[in-house]
Amino acid sequence: MQIVKTIPALQAALKIWRQAGEIIAFVPTMGNLHDGHLKLVEDAKNRANRVVVSIFVNPSQFGAGEDFDSYPRTEQEDQQKLQEIDTDLLFMPTIAEMYRPNAQTVVSVTGISDQYCGASRPGHFSGVATIVCKLFNIVQPDIAVFGEKDFQQLAVIREMVRDLNMPVDIRSVATVREASGLAMSSRNNYLGAEEKNLAALLYQSLCTARDAVLTGNQANSEIERQAMCFLQGAGFQPDYFSICRRQDLRAAAPEDAELVILAAAKLGKTRLIDNISFMRQLQ
Ligand code: PAJ
Repeated sequence: MQIVKTIPALQAALKIWRQAGEIIAFVPTMGNLHDGHLKLVEDAKNRANRVVVSIFVNPSQFGAGEDFDSYPRTEQEDQQKLQEIDTDLLFMPTIAEMYRPNAQTVVSVTGISDQYCGASRPGHFSGVATIVCKLFNIVQPDIAVFGEKDFQQLAVIREMVRDLNMPVDIRSVATVREASGLAMSSRNNYLGAEEKNLAALLYQSLCTARDAVLTGNQANSEIERQAMCFLQGAGFQPDYFSICRRQDLRAAAPEDAELVILAAAKLGKTRLIDNISFMRQLQ
């Protein structure tokens, strides 16, 4: 596996592959890699001749008072994991390599970024869209692979790619979970042992709400209210719990068949997000 830290070194490696007509897939990450990330790399390998992974803890997507400084950085372990699954190239730029000192341009995807995590974390999705746009311009991949774990992020990126005619095929991979149901996340490292057991209740609350939607006896607003109460009672500070239609993340209406329930809740200091996607039969 080649490890490069600068844009020119990355582009020199990519040029050789591109000239040979090879298909390049890209997996952007912030490191502290777990099995969820590795699943994306495996998926990318199945779709392309070469796989490029980036590790960059992107300051512009963290708000003031968020966990940029304490975000887990585990370079050596990450390199080893990527090596073991035959990643072709790891790009690990510095902040100075990625951001010019007085950069003036940001990418802002309005509408889809405004609710849920976007409302609770102002500026977060423009930070994500800007860095992903820059990485796409630098890597120029044929395919890029993202996790459904960050469902709203995936929707924001798909929207950006469509709106700006970016020639990248966006693919997604289902959320990888612990045996308890807890979605794998670098932020799970912040949880103590007892909190980690409790954290699995977030996914349970999503499964319960999905079953209630499919049963069809209760209004969505009532199902959401009960889930928020359940989470609060279990010791979470729930942020949102919303039954949405998948296509644009607006509140689900009775005629919508493809649904996703999005949830975010804090457990102690740790902010957890998760979601569940499902279909319902329309009468
Ligand atoms: P990060 O949180 O490191 O996640 C990198 C990718 O891994 C994202 O596409 C995310 O959805 C996916 N992922 C995380 N946990 C997963 C899980 N349990 N199962 C499947 N996929 C999972 O998301 C980011 O970094 C950043 O915002 C980034 C896109 C790199 C831009 O900075």
